[in-house]
Amino acid sequence: MSILVTGGTGYIGSHTVVELLNAGKDIVIIDNFSNSKREVLDQIKQITKKDFKFYEINYLDREDLKNVFEENKIEAVLNFAGYKAVGESVEKPIEYYMNNVSGALVLLDVMREYKVKKFIFSSSATVYGDPQTIPITEECTIGGTTNPYGTSKLYIEQILQDLYKSDNSWDIAILRYFNPVGAHESGLIGEEPNGIPNNLMPYISQVAEGRLKELSVFGNDYSTPDGTGVRDYIHVVDLAKGHIKALEKLDKESKGIYTYNLGTGKGYSVLDMVKTFERVTNKKVPYKIMPRRAGDIATSYADPQKAKQELNWQTEKGIEEMCEDTWKFIVKNKDNKKHPNN
Ligand code: UD1
Repeated sequence: MSILVTGGTGYIGSHTVVELLNAGKDIVIIDNFSNSKREVLDQIKQITKKDFKFYEINYLDREDLKNVFEENKIEAVLNFAGYKAVGESVEKPIEYYMNNVSGALVLLDVMREYKVKKFIFSSSATVYGDPQTIPITEECTIGGTTNPYGTSKLYIEQILQDLYKSDNSWDIAILRYFNPVGAHESGLIGEEPNGIPNNLMPYISQVAEGRLKELSVFGNDYSTPDGTGVRDYIHVVDLAKGHIKALEKLDKESKGIYTYNLGTGKGYSVLDMVKTFERVTNKKVPYKIMPRRAGDIATSYADPQKAKQELNWQTEKGIEEMCEDTWKFIVKNKDNKKHPNN
């Protein structure tokens, strides 16, 4: 029996694949490299010394997807396929809803056809909109998303709730990620955003690298300790491990639909991140204070107690390690580009 991972060469997908392989699982990856590179497949093999099946397909293509289910005995699906750039989603709502929502629907429909009903969905803390309370518990109202990317996550969550209501032989985990950063400690896989990054950590690291001149800090007049936005940054390897725990839960628990926040429970400001990055890497990150960015909130961090109690999962890596591993990946990647045969 295998676990199907859609989007398995992407940032969070690839790190989760490594943890699945380390846990001894058989896996099948599908990806169309829309926002990732083929080399990631080799990097995963290098890290884990394990092999897996791979199909270069688009999960919107029902026939191709069915073929994967025909050729493999799939027991569960982890869905990382999806577009994730907030700004781009505002420009291209049709593409975002098509890829994220229709893609999920095709996937669920094919799963139903093959009687595979175990599903883990990558959601986001963005579904809380402007959260009612801090720290954010899973009980907080969801809605009020400010862009099609966030709304696509919200819609898929609703679809999953309706699906479970219609047929309670499904077994579903919805994982709401806070702010994933960092990279695998090997420096072999990490985040490689296309173009100019939107998210804080990739932006900071490109400034440190000298590819970008300075960081714009979006607002220093929030009601936070230093006035800049506060977020719950979570190391991507901790996040990946959360998926293994969620899968274990679905395996042993009676059928159900479960929702978990995956975060550390700690909030750090933009300037905390800048200073920590500078300290651990010994690089300068020049910045200037700019107006607030539309759609941003002051503070977001998780109450991770539910995941701790029910999944027996908690984060282990702090912001130093997040910064260190981000930098290690950048440096190693640069080396590989200079010496591609290394
Ligand atoms: C954003 C998305 C969220 C998505 C997440 C993925 C919005 C409103 N939310 O979250 O839907 O799931 O990314 O990780 O876009 N900042 C700067 N300068 C920068 C970039 C960011 O000051 O160049 C600040 C932001 O104002 C914020 C913090 O850094 O306070 C984190 O920003 P970012 O990494 O973009 O994540 P979120 O906005 O929390």
